[in-house]
Amino acid sequence: MIRLATIGTSTITSQFVAALPQVPGIRLAGVFSRDSVRAAATAKGLGAAESWSELEAMLASTDVDAVYVASPNVVHYAQCRAALDAGKHVFVEKPAVVTVAEFEDLLGLARDRRVILFEGMRSAYDPGMDLVRHLLPEVGTIRRISFEYCQRSSRYDRVLAGQPVNIFDPAMAGGALNDLGVYCVSALVDLFGEPSRVAAAKVTVASGADGAGSALATYADCVAELAYSKITASDRPSQVEGELGTLTIDKIAEPTRIGLRLGSAPVQEHVVEKPAGNLAYEVERFVRLVAAGADPAPDQQRTLMTLRTMERIRTAADRL
Ligand SMILES: NC(=O)c1ccc[n+]([C@@H]2O[C@H](COP(=O)([O-])OP(=O)(O)OC[C@H]3O[C@@H](n4cnc5c(N)ncnc54)[C@H](OP(=O)(O)O)[C@@H]3O)[C@@H](O)[C@H]2O)c1
Repeated sequence: MIRLATIGTSTITSQFVAALPQVPGIRLAGVFSRDSVRAAATAKGLGAAESWSELEAMLASTDVDAVYVASPNVVHYAQCRAALDAGKHVFVEKPAVVTVAEFEDLLGLARDRRVILFEGMRSAYDPGMDLVRHLLPEVGTIRRISFEYCQRSSRYDRVLAGQPVNIFDPAMAGGALNDLGVYCVSALVDLFGEPSRVAAAKVTVASGADGAGSALATYADCVAELAYSKITASDRPSQVEGELGTLTIDKIAEPTRIGLRLGSAPVQEHVVEKPAGNLAYEVERFVRLVAAGADPAPDQQRTLMTLRTMERIRTAADRL
C-alpha cells in the first residue's frame, strides 16, 4: 500500500484525494500546509491521520512513501527535489516544473534514490486519449492539427481588480501556457512527437502573465495550431485533419466525445464514459510505476518533450 502525503490545500488537492479510493494500492497518509491550523483542518476534512506544517518533518516521516505536489508551479522544483532526496516517490501536478534543466536534474536525483518521478498530466492517461490514438490512422495522412483549451478563469476578475493571484503571476510561473496550454502541448508531443519549428504569440495581462496565446508548430508534412486562454472562453473542439477524414475531440484535457468523419460520410460519434472524471487514471498509472515496477521512461520522456516545446513557445512569443 502506497502511503501518500499531499502538498497544497487548494481545490485540486481535494479532487485528487477524492480519486484515491477508486484505485487499489494507494491511500492518503497525511497533509502538509505552510499553516499549521490549515494543515490540521485539511487533514481532518480529507480524512488523513497526520498533518505537518514543516516540510522537513513530513519528508522525515516513515509513514510516508510518496508525495503529491500541488503548489504553484514555480515551487514544484524545490519541493520535488526535497521529496526525492528524502527517498519519497513524487506525483507532481502539471506542469511538472518550469524548465527542462529542472526536470533533468530531478530525473537524475530520482534515479539515484531509486524512486519514481511522475507528472500528473491527467489527459495523457484518459481512456478518451487512448481512443483518439486508436482512431488516428483512420484519417489518413495528417495535414492539420488544432488543439485548444480556452476557459475564462474566475480568478481573472481578481487580476482586473488589481489583486495578486498566483495563477496569473509570472513570478509563480502562472499564465495561460503553463496552466492550460500545457494540455495542448502534451497531447501534441505525445501523439505526434516534437515539432521541427515553433512560432508563437501571446496576450499579456496587467499582472504581467500571458492571459492567452497561440502557437504554430510545424512538422515535415503537417502544421499544428495550439490555442490557450484563461481570459476568454471557447467552445471550439480540437481537431486532427487527415486526407481521408477528420477527428473531432470535445476537450483536449479530458477527451470524452470523439467524432470521426470519413470523407462525406456522417460523423461516427464515440462517447467515453467517465462518471468519476479522469483523475483516477493518472493515479492508476502512478501506482503501476511505484508498486508494479513499470518503466517510467515513456512518461518522463513525454514530460521532457512537453517542457522543451513549452520553452520554445515561450521564447518565440517573447521574440515576437
Ligand atoms: N490537474 C488539474 O486538473 C489541475 C487543476 C488545477 C490546478 N492544477 C495544478 O495544481 C497546482 C496548484 O494550482 P492551484 O491553482 O491550486 O495553486 P494555488 O491555489 O495558488 O496554490 C496551491 C496551494 O499551494 C500552497 N501555496 C500557495 N502559494 C504558495 C507559495 N507562494 N509557496 C508555497 N506554497 C504555496 C497553498 O497551500 P498552503 O498555503 O496550505 O501551504 C495552496 O493551497 C499547479 O501546478 C496547477 O497547474 C492542476
